[in-house]
Amino acid sequence: MARPESRYVCGTCGAASLRWEGQCRSCGGWNTLVETVVERARAVPRKAVAAPAVVALNEIAAHDTERLAIGLREVDRVLGGGLVPGSLVLLGGEPGIGKSTLVLAVCGRVVAASAGRVLYTSGEESAGQLHLRAIRLGLAQSEHIDVLAETSVERIVAAAEASAPALLVVDSIQTLTTDDLEGPAGSVGQVRAAAARLQAYAKENAVPVLLVGHVTKDGTLAGPKTLEHVVDVVLTLEGERFSGLRLLRSAKNRFGSTEEVGVFEMAGTGLIEVADPGGAFLETDSLGSPGVAVAATLEGSRPLLVEVQALVAPQVHGSPRRTAAGLDAQRLALLIAVLGRRAGLNLASHDVYASIVGGLTVEEPAIDLPLALALASALRDRPLAPGTVACGEIGLTGELRPINGLSRRLREAARLGFTRAIVPRNAGRGEETDQTGLTLVRVGSLREAIAAALVDRPRDEERGRVSEVAVRVGSES
Ligand code: TYD
Ligand code: MG
Repeated sequence: MARPESRYVCGTCGAASLRWEGQCRSCGGWNTLVETVVERARAVPRKAVAAPAVVALNEIAAHDTERLAIGLREVDRVLGGGLVPGSLVLLGGEPGIGKSTLVLAVCGRVVAASAGRVLYTSGEESAGQLHLRAIRLGLAQSEHIDVLAETSVERIVAAAEASAPALLVVDSIQTLTTDDLEGPAGSVGQVRAAAARLQAYAKENAVPVLLVGHVTKDGTLAGPKTLEHVVDVVLTLEGERFSGLRLLRSAKNRFGSTEEVGVFEMAGTGLIEVADPGGAFLETDSLGSPGVAVAATLEGSRPLLVEVQALVAPQVHGSPRRTAAGLDAQRLALLIAVLGRRAGLNLASHDVYASIVGGLTVEEPAIDLPLALALASALRDRPLAPGTVACGEIGLTGELRPINGLSRRLREAARLGFTRAIVPRNAGRGEETDQTGLTLVRVGSLREAIAAALVDRPRDEERGRVSEVAVRVGSES
């Protein structure tokens, strides 16, 4: 069968070229040409188009939107209650983070709920490799999971149409090719065409399709930003590869909130759900050291206590370094400036490193205050008072701004054994913040917050521990 004609079309101006070129000859844009199938318009007489039937909104049957609940609570929570039939869900994440493990576990749950068969297609692993993973997850005996090692999207769709699964999994979208295009797997044209083909399949058959997608180092979905527009839901799995905790978030969800997170732990037998993650990101060993502050954050409706660590050191050469992990680097720079101008803590000639423990990324503004306190604590080399948590946004004048959900944050902190919270003066008005059992220290400015947070000098036992370690390290060499 002859291959349909393809052209390289500029995504900006629409100019077509026969060959791929780095720069569009028409508009001069770089890397804008994408391989596209040429569709010849058929000469259809106008009157031949029959009017399609429309449906009144209130007459759409409820079962059309019934979801396929997966039964993995953390996944269902992020999806907003399960998979919607006919929807295209993209699961992104760095290589090795656990995407294949998670989707295989999803397959296991879907068949266990006897929702029918599941088709798992892999372009990355052979059936034998999939079997090995299934053994680890305790799914090797499942007769309802069909496996297909295949990279042609046409063959995958044919297999799905033949077996009519309750769920189709494609691992990964970057390995797929369509017969219509010549470009390599993973190129923008191929990924877009494959996704469009799978979307047509999903809609026609009302089957949810779960796509796995790789994420590049800088955190974007490799190749296709366009893919994010095609799919209905974008989930991302994140975490530090070498620590156990994983977070499932949704960056886009046409059927639910994008605020919820699911928490998992990678264990020998796959990803285990962490039902009570409130304190999962705290490392008790480092609490009480200078440069460490505990933040009471809120991820969607879920309170999480996270540890912010900061290290400041006299600048070595050139301009001072500012390194942020799990935190917004711009926000860090801004807080350093506010600390210098509004709180008398000058870090202009210091290298500054700040991170969130456990591979978590925190974006909400309430992280400002704990981050600033960690920096102050590191610079002064004085720990925060024991049992203290903090949350609050900081303005450019060093004022503390209120944040949402204060009582929920405080109750979680109290539950995990914290005794004292430093919060913005105006936060939580109208909420029942007195019932939490924490001592509330309400402050109006960053300067006040620092005064309330830092203890006078490192506690003696803390010193003892540090020198003990130093002795041990010394005796080893
Ligand atoms: P994988 O799901 O293959 O990652 P991805 O598809 O995102 O590339 O999982 C990768 C890592 O997970 C791998 O390094 C081994 C580890 N792992 C476990 O620790 N326990 C398990 O039960 C499984 C299946 C994997
Ligand atoms: Mg994989």
